[in-house]
Amino acid sequence: MLYGSASGSQLDVVKLRHAIAWSPAIFANLVFRQLFDAASSTYTYLLGDPCTGQAVIIDTVFEQHLRDHALLVELDLKLVAAVDTHCHADHVTGAWMMQQATGCRIGISRRYQPPIQGVDLPLDHGDRITFGGRHLEVRATPGHTGGCMTLVLEDRSMAFTGDALLIRGAGRCDFQQGSAHTLYRSIIQQIFSLPEACLLFPGHDYSGRTVSSVAEERAHNPRIGGAADERDFVGFMENLNLPHPKQIDVALPANLRSGQPADGKVPRLAGWGPVRQTYAGLLEIEPEWVAEHLQQVHVLDVRQPQEMQESLGRIANSQLIPLNELKARLSEIPRDKPVVAVCHAGTRSGQATVILRSAGLERSANLRGGMLLWSQLGLPTQRRSVGA
Ligand SMILES: [Fe+2]
Repeated sequence: MLYGSASGSQLDVVKLRHAIAWSPAIFANLVFRQLFDAASSTYTYLLGDPCTGQAVIIDTVFEQHLRDHALLVELDLKLVAAVDTHCHADHVTGAWMMQQATGCRIGISRRYQPPIQGVDLPLDHGDRITFGGRHLEVRATPGHTGGCMTLVLEDRSMAFTGDALLIRGAGRCDFQQGSAHTLYRSIIQQIFSLPEACLLFPGHDYSGRTVSSVAEERAHNPRIGGAADERDFVGFMENLNLPHPKQIDVALPANLRSGQPADGKVPRLAGWGPVRQTYAGLLEIEPEWVAEHLQQVHVLDVRQPQEMQESLGRIANSQLIPLNELKARLSEIPRDKPVVAVCHAGTRSGQATVILRSAGLERSANLRGGMLLWSQLGLPTQRRSVGA
């Protein structure tokens, strides 16, 4: 089934997760998502095998690791590897954070010297990155950096070029052992040799372009397409006159540690409880934890008063402020404890957390699943209305 039933049981939630992960809309036998980090214009790619649920993430960004991890959880995918196409100079990788969250391996080229710390999947030309019944073939495509790789899906329908070949462009070659001569040969021999219909997915795009193809770039890439030869390409690349990358002084040292923070610690989303971020960007917390820590939080129920009389009941000592009155009554909410918002199914209370946070109540989160899940879990409720 594609949708949970009206009862919204936990079982249905599990089925829903599987259904989404196992129902590819465009790509047969592949779960595929292209994600974007606007601050660095970086593309992150998630590839999963729908039969086994195993997945690989390519070029995950540190600041987006909560988003990327939430997507894995919601699609019920098991991450086997976080792979970087190269050691980035313009953003910090989220590979170490993903390993902390999922136990996945960290993959990058073994060609970097000294080797990148924390890597337990060192890669080189000809290696395979297996996820379930599928795999990515590693092709060394140095030139932008000495360790750049292009990752090619085993059926050669898709290739992830990192910064070697961009859409109508190519990665700069003026730092990190870059060489325009080397990059020319990498693109011609390892990327343009792929089938013409092979889709090309770059590591960045600064103009909103998302995908190209081998045929398209061979014909229209202004740096290396058409009749351009090595001399033309090198002449172009050596006269780009690009500014020093803004983030390089921060990004490179962090990426030499696979994105592990300098203090070696996983940043916590919230100091007061195990809050997680959903792919929708909302902060939520598990009902079991809330039930065990009721004295430490303030429960804010945002349902309508008449709903209190219905069978689901309410959580003891919860404060009732209907969502449509919340903005006008924010001053009634005590600020000495973190606020957990609750409603019937966790939908209206999700919006309540947005209102709370915009009003400065940073320590707030949505009760996952609302009173429906609370009740299904058998957690204690009060049936009689208590003064709001
Ligand atoms: Fe790069």
